[in-house]
Amino acid sequence: MRTATDRTRFEPTDGSWSDYAAHEGLRSVLDPRDEEGIKNAYIDAMHKTALRHAGLPQAHEVVLDYGCGTGRLTRYLAPRSRAVVGTDITSAMLRGALREGGAPNTVFSHIDGVRLPLRDASVDLVVSVYVLQYFVAERDAYGAVLQEFARVLKPGGRCIFIEQVSYSGTSSGSVAEGAGPHDYLDGDAPVRFRVLQQGAVRLARPGALVRNTLLRRGFPRFLRRPVQRAVLRRNLQRRLEDLRHQPYVDWMFHLKRKD
Ligand SMILES: C[S@@+](CC[C@H](N)C(=O)[O-])C[C@H]1O[C@@H](n2cnc3c(N)ncnc32)[C@H](O)[C@@H]1O
Repeated sequence: MRTATDRTRFEPTDGSWSDYAAHEGLRSVLDPRDEEGIKNAYIDAMHKTALRHAGLPQAHEVVLDYGCGTGRLTRYLAPRSRAVVGTDITSAMLRGALREGGAPNTVFSHIDGVRLPLRDASVDLVVSVYVLQYFVAERDAYGAVLQEFARVLKPGGRCIFIEQVSYSGTSSGSVAEGAGPHDYLDGDAPVRFRVLQQGAVRLARPGALVRNTLLRRGFPRFLRRPVQRAVLRRNLQRRLEDLRHQPYVDWMFHLKRKD
């Protein structure tokens, strides 16, 4: 008999989440092939720049990091909020998160993929990065997860998702099927959530500005933040149709739960 976890477990096409978890640091949750670490540092920086741009939680707010992996963003959000609950379907990821350690206001919790161990209207912000892209095509599972987000969020609470989308339906090596932005917003999303902002935050084939700065060894650290902000601003202005030459882009959805 298939368990709830089996029905909602969608592994990457190039291995399993447990294989990913065996890697050190950012390779456990981003590109496991990036031995040099420059590409992953760039992805990590652009995701955090996008979270800051959308608006970090306030000091009194409770955050859910859905699909937290080894806690990359849980650790980033913890000092900026009252409490963060990191949830994941993969035990090996959560063991990695515990090994890396967390702030006292952090809890890590194993979930079946859908049902969240949280009371109704108890969360101010749901963050989910590189998780929904693995099952956005499974409409029942995807709809059920959005419904859970709406249940645990307070009225007016926010979601920030960063997931891969593509114009052409292609995707990165680990995602089975490319999806467009509308796929993430179909179903329950327009009913329960209002879109505050959406747009590209990182291109799979970065342009010269990124190659000459964020992906260049030795580029001065103090210049990185302003460049990241400039790149993000430029990317957010691009329309998906203008990104035809990109196999996929990282797309940010900033949503607000309707009252
Ligand atoms: C690529 S990692 C991203 C981890 C983290 N969000 C980050 O950006 O660093 C994807 C994570 O999603 C988790 N995951 C996949 N499907 C899930 C589901 N249905 N519910 C919860 N976590 C899930 C995997 O176990 C894995 O840890």
